Amino acid sequence: MNIVKAPNAGALAQLAADFFQAFIQAENNPLLTLPTGLTPLPLYRELRTRCEAGYQGLGRFTYLALDEYQGLPPSDNRRFARWLKQEILDPLGVPTQNRIIFKSDAADPEAEIKRFTEYYTGKAPIDLAVLGLGLNGHVGFNEPGSAFDSTTRLVDLTPETQETNATYWGYRQRTPTKAYTLGLSELRQAKNTMVLISGKEKSGILRRVLDGPVSEDVPATYLHDIDNVTIFAEAEALS
Ligand code: PGA
Repeated sequence: MNIVKAPNAGALAQLAADFFQAFIQAENNPLLTLPTGLTPLPLYRELRTRCEAGYQGLGRFTYLALDEYQGLPPSDNRRFARWLKQEILDPLGVPTQNRIIFKSDAADPEAEIKRFTEYYTGKAPIDLAVLGLGLNGHVGFNEPGSAFDSTTRLVDLTPETQETNATYWGYRQRTPTKAYTLGLSELRQAKNTMVLISGKEKSGILRRVLDGPVSEDVPATYLHDIDNVTIFAEAEALS
């Protein structure tokens, strides 16, 4: 694992944006997955700024959803698809047909998983997985105990994840209890992975990820067993 240490969140966004930009420039319509959460917001802001400053082509990729709450109508502001549309996909000009999302309100979740998996299988592997790290070591919504060979599925969110996610809306709305997620199997197959970590509160879990042992109890420890992983960590998360 390569570790890139940044003095603060702004510097982390710059470094991660440089990596992202170089990757998109070097590839031809790569398949990417992208995280929601608070950590990636400075990166997305930096990419929007670069776009506005005239850099063309940052949106030349296909986006495959990492995760999504289950059961929300299209108008619901909690939908991750909506977040990412606003934060990065629309501003960077990712073509609509290149956005593969989970339909949160799909009537038949099993059929939705099948549809999504068929798409993934036809395009696999992911060229670049951009990830955050949950306080409990989750990646996507692969919560502690997720099998390293787990595939795309519907999961129950832990009370801890429901609680941390409720902060996204200032506790004004509840976190749904179920979510779709790419599995650790699909994430392990990714050709390149970048993980964004900021905030002192992540230092404990980051230490567990970096020091091991590799265990399904800390899903992000799968990163030890794959190639081309770059961890972008703010200094206070590494202390
Ligand atoms: P955060 O979420 O960026 O809001 O900390 C990370 C995650 O839960 O994956």
